[in-house]
Amino acid sequence: MNDSAEFTGYAADGRELLGAVFGMVGSYDFDFAVTVSVERNEYVQVHHGSYGWLLARVEELKLKTDLDSEMARMVAMGERVDYREEEIAHASIIGFADGKGGISAPKQPVPAGTLVYRAEDALIASVLSLSAGGGSGALIGTLHSRSLPVYTDIDTMVQKHISIVAKTGGGKSYLAGVLLEEMLKNRVTTLILDPHGEYATLGEAPDGGRSRFSPDVIEFAVDTEVNPGAQPLRFTCSNFSAAEILSLTPLGENKAAAATLSACMERAKEKGGDYDLLDLAAEMEGDAPAMVQLRKEVEALAAMNVFSEHGTRTDQIANPGKTTIINLKGAVPEVQGLFVRRLLTALFELRKRGKIPPLLVVLEEAHNFCPQQGKTEASRIVRTVAAEGRKFGMGLLVITQRAAKVDKNVLSQCNTQFILKLTNGNDLKAVAASVEGITPEMLEEIPRLTTGVAIAVGGGLPVPVLVDVRRRETRHGGESAALVRG
Ligand SMILES: Nc1ncnc2c1ncn2[C@@H]1O[C@H](COP(=O)(O)OP(=O)(O)OP(=O)(O)O)[C@@H](O)[C@H]1O
Ligand SMILES: [Mg+2]
Repeated sequence: MNDSAEFTGYAADGRELLGAVFGMVGSYDFDFAVTVSVERNEYVQVHHGSYGWLLARVEELKLKTDLDSEMARMVAMGERVDYREEEIAHASIIGFADGKGGISAPKQPVPAGTLVYRAEDALIASVLSLSAGGGSGALIGTLHSRSLPVYTDIDTMVQKHISIVAKTGGGKSYLAGVLLEEMLKNRVTTLILDPHGEYATLGEAPDGGRSRFSPDVIEFAVDTEVNPGAQPLRFTCSNFSAAEILSLTPLGENKAAAATLSACMERAKEKGGDYDLLDLAAEMEGDAPAMVQLRKEVEALAAMNVFSEHGTRTDQIANPGKTTIINLKGAVPEVQGLFVRRLLTALFELRKRGKIPPLLVVLEEAHNFCPQQGKTEASRIVRTVAAEGRKFGMGLLVITQRAAKVDKNVLSQCNTQFILKLTNGNDLKAVAASVEGITPEMLEEIPRLTTGVAIAVGGGLPVPVLVDVRRRETRHGGESAALVRG
């Protein structure tokens, strides 16, 4: 028998009655006749004699009508037709809290006739472990359409890698900013590889003043003229081989040029130890066409300002408890790839030897650094960090607009995933293949998500949930440019 409800639609203890279970009932799902309108994705609760309150989620809504084709034709001809219509909801059972941060599923179906209520906040929060990470969780936002805060566990996220995927403009960088604010609050050492120079605004409040995080945000940039607040990001020239330097020029793998450059490097070294590219160009004497071309390319590379006598030291990059931004804006893709490779390789080695604290590395536009097809300077080290980073306390936050184009060995290592709006079929397939625990219903939801709504998977949450991403405390630096101003 059922617990009774008032005609008002509310049970005596204030729960809102939505309908009652009918028809064929499964152990994992049920249909209920709707008496008060509900929406897809809404959480509901039913009472089970053996297990107590169970949490369930509305997956689908249908209107059952007795309007047949003949009657529909009459409607189309403008005639008035009476027909019956009833709303039916299909819900899948999530279960009940097992008391250990997990969820148990009932082993028997709920009886037909069981009353269905709008789920109470306390039941949702406990079954879905929305306070993952306890007091030290990262506040991501609120449960979609509810005002319940959603936290994810910072240790789980950093140790086991994170991914954010969405089509362009889907809200990836905004959400990454939210996560990074939480890392700053929790003093997680973070390094952001920032190809578009959009993260320095973590130091700014939305109104343009300084944010409360500003003292803990450090920026290095290739182009310090455009970014006057940043410290210069430079390679130490003498740490590179001739072939590596040439790989950044159109001379690429030209062996004769590499031999000439190598000889110039030897001579420069003999003269005074440290040198820069202009010192090397000065070593290139004579008018032979090959020499002239090499000198021109080396001078052009020098103008890019990425090499100097004394480059940026790796120990300046990993600042304990702080967020360091590597602003790569303005550098050509080859230079960006080389910086990412060099920095990740050095940091991984230092981390293995315990010389720097555990850290999180943010890789924006990951498809450009660790593509599924072909390889870049950085692909190998990114894959190594994805596979082995957790052993050594080096986590990755992988951000991409093309899930299908990111090395799947990297994406599948991310145990916490945030999925925002995606429409490309191949990207949806890549998400389905790399995200554990995502249901077919959730996958269907992805193309329909609106900006600012994410599906959060893992990070201490026992099942995927829809989250309204919270507002940024700092200025979002990735604003879409307004092409037409009204
Ligand atoms: N949670 C949110 N709340 C409010 N506005 C948001 C939210 N998420 C995104 N936006 C808005 O949507 C726009 C696009 O977001 P964002 O820059 O994060 O997209 P993106 O996925 O990083 O795009 P791209 O692939 O072009 O880098 C931003 O200008 C931002 O103002
Ligand atoms: Mg972005």
